[in-house]
Amino acid sequence: FQKDILNLVYICESEGLHEVAQFWQQVVQMNEHQKATFSGKIISSLFNTVTNKKICIFGFAFKKDTGDVRETPALSVCHMLLQDGAVVHVYDPKVKREDALAEFRYHNMDVDERRLIFAPSPASAVEGSHAIVVLTEWDEFKTYDYGAFYGTMMKPAFLFDGRALLSRAALEGIGFEVHAIGQARPQGGCMRIRDAEGAPPVPLAPPPRQLTPAGCCASTTGRVILVTGTAGFVGFHAAIALRTRGDGVLGIDNFNGYYPPSFKRARAKALEEHGVLTLNVDLNDAEALSSLFKEHRFTHVLALAAQAGVRYATKDPQSYVKSNIEGFVNLAEVARAQDPMPRIVYASSSSVYGLNTKVPFAEDDVVDQPASLYAATKKSNEMMAHTYRHVYGFFFFWVGFFT
Ligand SMILES: NC(=O)c1ccc[n+]([C@@H]2O[C@H](COP(=O)([O-])OP(=O)(O)OC[C@H]3O[C@@H](n4cnc5c(N)ncnc54)[C@H](O)[C@@H]3O)[C@@H](O)[C@H]2O)c1
Repeated sequence: FQKDILNLVYICESEGLHEVAQFWQQVVQMNEHQKATFSGKIISSLFNTVTNKKICIFGFAFKKDTGDVRETPALSVCHMLLQDGAVVHVYDPKVKREDALAEFRYHNMDVDERRLIFAPSPASAVEGSHAIVVLTEWDEFKTYDYGAFYGTMMKPAFLFDGRALLSRAALEGIGFEVHAIGQARPQGGCMRIRDAEGAPPVPLAPPPRQLTPAGCCASTTGRVILVTGTAGFVGFHAAIALRTRGDGVLGIDNFNGYYPPSFKRARAKALEEHGVLTLNVDLNDAEALSSLFKEHRFTHVLALAAQAGVRYATKDPQSYVKSNIEGFVNLAEVARAQDPMPRIVYASSSSVYGLNTKVPFAEDDVVDQPASLYAATKKSNEMMAHTYRHVYGFFFFWVGFFT
């Protein structure tokens, strides 16, 4: 138990054995890190959010054949999922909900109890869920009909095996997207996973080759798309959708600090698993943009990078001018110099309707009354796009997102 290791740390410290104490302290830290990494993996795989998603947890006990929940890994995994807004349905043959809640309280972990459900059967925990997460090595988990479970789940259906308990090959054969821990690297360097008891280890696919910008631009549809702002909310999802349909997709983003860059880096990392790289390039860097265009001959640009948000303009008005006005013109100028010129699809905003009172809004409404600096820059972009189209015959399209 963690508390025993911490006692050991304390005893070592008081006996002057600082290096031994440090060693045991690191064991505790490593355990915590592994739990956080596992939960983070679940969230990033589920497209970076589990808000309002049903997640099924198989096993809450510290180990099989017991109802003991003291310091079970299920605590931190469920806590992180609940913090991110998931609805967590637990099935454990022995653990009672009140024992789990008492353990959360003991560790001062706040949980929204309405979103922590203990299911009466494995099937009811699974039905309608986005993912199954195995956290205890109960034998009965190996005997379930995962094919039947798969039929009742949302798609894509994920399975995160925190105990390396189940047969990955069999689950993947059913259609699950499987992530498992407990993997070891044998001498040949090929990753292998310990399979269900008795079965031979199943070799995993070799790790993906290093992603390169040229590799990302390989296309089966003839479209090669530069997506700006791929570390952002819309850009992340759009890049996955485009890549999934076979387009070549390369992303750029300047990872600015409007909201935590760590979120943006996590998105960029998760995008790599979908075959999309995000290069750290600013819209205002004409040289970098020019060489990207020259090298990859983009057929389209999905222009999403912008200083978004209405209220932030009272804090940093220049960021709107820098990204939305200067950056926009810079991108348009670089694109204009290409032969043939790529088509640009640009993200405008419902905010351009500003103080208009006529409803419903229409695409041909006059939008001359923006109510924020953000809206004013977005409206300017629409006018600039019109100008580029008029002067150079540029193919410029814009979509107005409504939040
Ligand atoms: N999310 C919405 O509800 C909404 C509504 C209306 C319009 N939009 C528009 O859609 C687009 C995407 O919005 P989002 O919600 O994904 O915003 P976001 O802030 O999550 O993403 C924008 C991304 O652009 C990047 N960026 C900003 N300036 C840059 C620059 N100069 N160079 C390179 N990268 C830069 C940021 O780092 C960020 O990752 C924006 O143009 C926004 O104005 C969004």
